[in-house]
Amino acid sequence: MAQSESQPKIDLSGKVAVVTGAGRGIGAAIAESFARAGADLVIADLNEASARHVAERIQQLGGKALAVKTDIAAPADVDRLFAAVQDHFAGVDILINNAGIWFRKPFLEIGDDEWDQVLAVNLKGTFMCSQRGARMMMTKHSGCIINIASHAGLFYSRGQGVHYAASKAAIVQMTRVLAFELGPLGIRINAIAPGGVNTGSPTSMPQTEVAPSAPVAGANPLGFRGDPADIANTALFLASPLARFTTGQTLVVNGGTIGSS
Ligand SMILES: NC(=O)c1ccc[n+]([C@@H]2O[C@H](COP(=O)([O-])OP(=O)(O)OC[C@H]3O[C@@H](n4cnc5c(N)ncnc54)[C@H](O)[C@@H]3O)[C@@H](O)[C@H]2O)c1
Repeated sequence: MAQSESQPKIDLSGKVAVVTGAGRGIGAAIAESFARAGADLVIADLNEASARHVAERIQQLGGKALAVKTDIAAPADVDRLFAAVQDHFAGVDILINNAGIWFRKPFLEIGDDEWDQVLAVNLKGTFMCSQRGARMMMTKHSGCIINIASHAGLFYSRGQGVHYAASKAAIVQMTRVLAFELGPLGIRINAIAPGGVNTGSPTSMPQTEVAPSAPVAGANPLGFRGDPADIANTALFLASPLARFTTGQTLVVNGGTIGSS
């Protein structure tokens, strides 16, 4: 697949990348930019139709891509995903744990089942995919995992549910801890904490709207929302040899916002 003019020249040819939640939004942007950099892609998403659509788009542009319907919160699905990766590509070099769900819901209204659901997808799903992926990467003593966390896991983000914020904060710490367990196995692991990104698609979950508050003056020094490509470019850097001395880190990509976004 030809690199676009605007994409940094990073060469991932010969690499196999698995991207969860790649059927749309940030995950689709990461998958397509990795394909443009030469990687073979596994598009894992709960929504089979959108996973196939992204895989076909990559194939039409000359890349290799496999769509696998996966619920990352279901252990059997995660095992099936990595079995398919092994069968099809004989291994994985890069894993992007991107799939995530959120509710904008006040703390006092969050149901126990909603808490469990958000933690099951965002945190347990990231744990299971990382573990299965790392077991495959360690056989080559080489690999890279990138977790998509959130601004909301590091700062107060007005209106974001505490279950979402807690799941993303846990991903940041999981990233730090796993850097020590996986580094000796030749595997780097980092996270990206995006701020508000225009994905142009409805979010994955029904939301309870929280009344918008007055904007915080100077909260975002750049004054604009990011695009999925801003997150994809950061992921490209982290997956490339340019980041060979970087592990356990969370790169905040939020326009410099330090408070409520
Ligand atoms: N968009 C933002 O502004 C923003 C900001 C900070 C962090 N993030 C994080 O970035 C990631 C992607 O966000 P997005 O805005 O592109 O999301 P999105 O809702 O547009 O897309 C998420 C994708 O994940 C898939 N998915 C949902 N549950 C899944 C499951 N259990 N198993 C497999 N796939 C599943 C959905 O089908 C969908 O294709 C998420 O982890 C999100 O928390 C997004």
